Amino acid sequence: MESKMKIIGGTQLKGKISAQGAKNAALPVMAAAILLKGKTLKIERVPNLLDVVTMADLLRSLGAEVRFRDHEMEISTPEEISWETPPDLVRKMRASSLVLGPLLARCGKAVMPLPGGCSIGSRPIDLHLKGLTRMGASIELVHGAVHARADGLRGCRIYLDFPSVGATENLMMAAVFAQGETVLENTAREPEIFNLVEALRSMGAFIDADGTGVIRIKGVDDLESASATVIPDRVEAATYILAGAATNGEVTVSEVIPNHIDSLLAKLEEAGASMTVKETEVTIHPSGRLKAVSLKTLPYPGFPTDLQPQVMVALCLAEGTSVVQESVFQSRFLHVSELNKMGAKIDIQSNSAIINGVESLAGADVIATDLRAGAALVLAGLAARDITYIHHLGHIFRGYENMEEKLCAIGADIAILPSEEDSKGDSQALRS
Ligand code: EPZ
Repeated sequence: MESKMKIIGGTQLKGKISAQGAKNAALPVMAAAILLKGKTLKIERVPNLLDVVTMADLLRSLGAEVRFRDHEMEISTPEEISWETPPDLVRKMRASSLVLGPLLARCGKAVMPLPGGCSIGSRPIDLHLKGLTRMGASIELVHGAVHARADGLRGCRIYLDFPSVGATENLMMAAVFAQGETVLENTAREPEIFNLVEALRSMGAFIDADGTGVIRIKGVDDLESASATVIPDRVEAATYILAGAATNGEVTVSEVIPNHIDSLLAKLEEAGASMTVKETEVTIHPSGRLKAVSLKTLPYPGFPTDLQPQVMVALCLAEGTSVVQESVFQSRFLHVSELNKMGAKIDIQSNSAIINGVESLAGADVIATDLRAGAALVLAGLAARDITYIHHLGHIFRGYENMEEKLCAIGADIAILPSEEDSKGDSQALRS
């Protein structure tokens, strides 16, 4: 039975939240364990999330042993592993496509259903497949599944048409055993990429990544057991800072790396927010009504698309008209109709949202359509004058560990209730 969230809004949040390990760093590092043959990868600060459980199940289905307790994970892979990924798990989580590169590098073949699109866009993996083909893989699409084979991948120069996070990660992992050097150009530069680089280096890979969008990988014969630590989740941390902004509260988020969210902090400052930034924590102070600002989402270090729904909530309450342009995904505005149900005044024109600030939002019954849209609805519920119910919580539990507990600890009034409606197909919310 899918659950729903009941939020009694209107309270100024006050207190400190510590950030979880980054979901989008943990998932590729977990996939990198496939490269180890009969060895072990230890990973610290793994967040307890639905997506992490899905990736662990996917690795187990290939033959790996995964132990996961108290944010510590140990992945051991046998000498021989399967190269065929189970369709149900791949369809559940797009990030499953991150096993393609490691499987090809390790086994010389891989069969993987094409990951479906989702509510934010068609989410193709053409850049992943184009790069693997350049490295010598033969790729066939058979009944909606990728059948890839490679008798040894060759190092080469690959220019990414778009700095895709997943394609950068997949191709980097595919290159670790390739013959010679692989040079990836126009790569993604998100912090999670460098977390993966560090993990692969600790396993013995030769990777040079200087943050300029060029990554050089020299092929090696084998990798060794290693340990890796997941960086703080910049998107989760920024979500809670924006919870402070939306409720005019005083919220400190600790165990973060502030410069990973520079673009958000700069935008909040431009909007008149008062903040204190220390080495590993950020505090937003009661700042009164923010001023409207405009922004465009871009690949890192630009404003992150994963914060676009959440920042929109703060702008719904700002004084004036803001314009938010979504340039990374095709259709990442499904949260707009739900926010408008709560009294927001947002118009969509092509890939831009025109937001006319209102004094306050009103509680409503709303539906989470994807992970970050769901997070935005929580922020709107916290800011609204009365009661909000959020349905399809499974989306939220995919990326936020103990969200309701963390928010209640700083003054929010949130309860998770069984949902009356019989919602089919939604994954059971992870109750950690
Ligand atoms: C990663 O997804 C993140 N997921 C996403 O976070 C994030 O929104 C995205 O990067 C952008 O920052 C994980 O890291 C697990 P992309 P990914 O490849 O790798 C197009 C969240 O909320 N594209 O950088 O799938 C694609 O359609 C999630 O935590 C192609 O056209 O993102 C999109 O428009 C949501 N062809 C754009 O590039 C390709 O082969 C960015 O995609 C690959 C991508």
